[in-house]
Amino acid sequence: MTEMAKLSLPDGKSMELPVLTGSENEKAIDISDLRKKTGYITLDPGFANTGVCESKISYIDGEHGILRYRGFPIEELAENPSFVEVAYLLINGELPNKMQLENFADRISLHSMIHEDMRHFFEGFSQNSHPMVILSAMISSLSAYYSEASGKASMEDLEINSARLIAKISTIAAFSYKKSVGQPFVYPRDELSYSANFLNMMFSVPAEPFELDPEIERSLELLLVLHADHEQNCSASTVRVVGSSEANVYASVASGILALWGPLHGGANQQVVQMLQKIHMDGTGISKYIEKAKNQYSNFRLMGFGHRVYKNFDPRAKILKNECDRILSKLGINDPLLDIALELEEIALSDDYFIERKLYPTLDFYTGIIYRALGIPLNMFTVMFVLGRVPGWIAQWKEMHEDAKQKIARPRQLYTGQTKRKYVPIAERV
Ligand code: CMC
Repeated sequence: MTEMAKLSLPDGKSMELPVLTGSENEKAIDISDLRKKTGYITLDPGFANTGVCESKISYIDGEHGILRYRGFPIEELAENPSFVEVAYLLINGELPNKMQLENFADRISLHSMIHEDMRHFFEGFSQNSHPMVILSAMISSLSAYYSEASGKASMEDLEINSARLIAKISTIAAFSYKKSVGQPFVYPRDELSYSANFLNMMFSVPAEPFELDPEIERSLELLLVLHADHEQNCSASTVRVVGSSEANVYASVASGILALWGPLHGGANQQVVQMLQKIHMDGTGISKYIEKAKNQYSNFRLMGFGHRVYKNFDPRAKILKNECDRILSKLGINDPLLDIALELEEIALSDDYFIERKLYPTLDFYTGIIYRALGIPLNMFTVMFVLGRVPGWIAQWKEMHEDAKQKIARPRQLYTGQTKRKYVPIAERV
């Protein structure tokens, strides 16, 4: 029998509301009939207490630092990371068998080139354009080439469009980097793994042979796996909101890219390294920055710290902290920014301000140091986040379209403006 919650309202009305239970025993009060039955709405800025869907894709327990994709703990998926396998898992719900994985990987490789006309689009951007702008514009432009990708796409079309998105985004990302450094575009190579192909397109040049370092390839696979989904965050919600109007999957993902770019979301990875660089250059120590972050009158925040859901630790940050040590020592790199990050973390974690507010380092706190070690430039950090997150966005978009209960996203508001008044002609206004 469904549990019920009772709501008593100031006008004497009351309503019984069904209480739903998730598979991990999470509780939700179903208010979908609230306005119809009582005239009231709920108010929840930033959706901090509002569930917008039922989802089977990823599970986060922020109190205990748990993240699972389709039930599999992130720590296990990180042990032998395979981004394409995780992409299959997120989109299709189950781990692939050998043949399913090969077919999926082949399909992605098959779609890795972009239409040759799209190469010319890059010429229209200035050399200084942020790669996130280029990426979003180019992904949105894919709709012009694959017009069959409507919101009501058949599942067969969605399979092709998913492969196109996962494949082409890495080509577009690498081309946008090549454009920014004035080097010739390097075409994708189907025989390489997803990460190896991306690294080859980024760093090889026609003038000399390119040797791929398997350690770098492994590190990149891990980063992509750790970024692949994170339930209803700002960009995933954007993808769902845009997709709910039956906008096509390319338009929806392009919008997600722009939502992710913000410094409070995926853009934080670039901000973290800029902050660490500033502290390093300044050379006067860390405490000044801790004090600034604690000062309510300053708009400075410790970037890479704090999360809406994680109120303990971010399990991805734990994995990445170890990966920082591993890859830097394998590559023989001694990055002073890592020392600053470690010191900053230690001081913040023993400071009452951060303890009381449950502010812990998130994955963005460590990714930048690894990207630097891999040779990825600063303005590409958030692009790297996008490469990892695309399968998650596709899975969210697909799940929304398969859910008969989903409607066009259309929140309500509590109007606090002027009540009705009469228009005054300009000649009569004081
Ligand atoms: N440095 C200093 N104070 C902070 C920080 C921080 N990084 N984050 C939160 N606070 C304080 C905030 O000032 C507030 O204090 P008070 O209660 O005294 O007003 C309290 O902690 C709660 O913060 P909030 O802004 O209400 O929390 P939120 O859940 O709305 O925001 C957040 C979450 C991620 C936007 C925020 O923690 C933040 O701005 N962090 C820095 C940016 C960042 O690293 N973003 C990446 C997030 S993880 C990647 C992703 O999934 O996008």
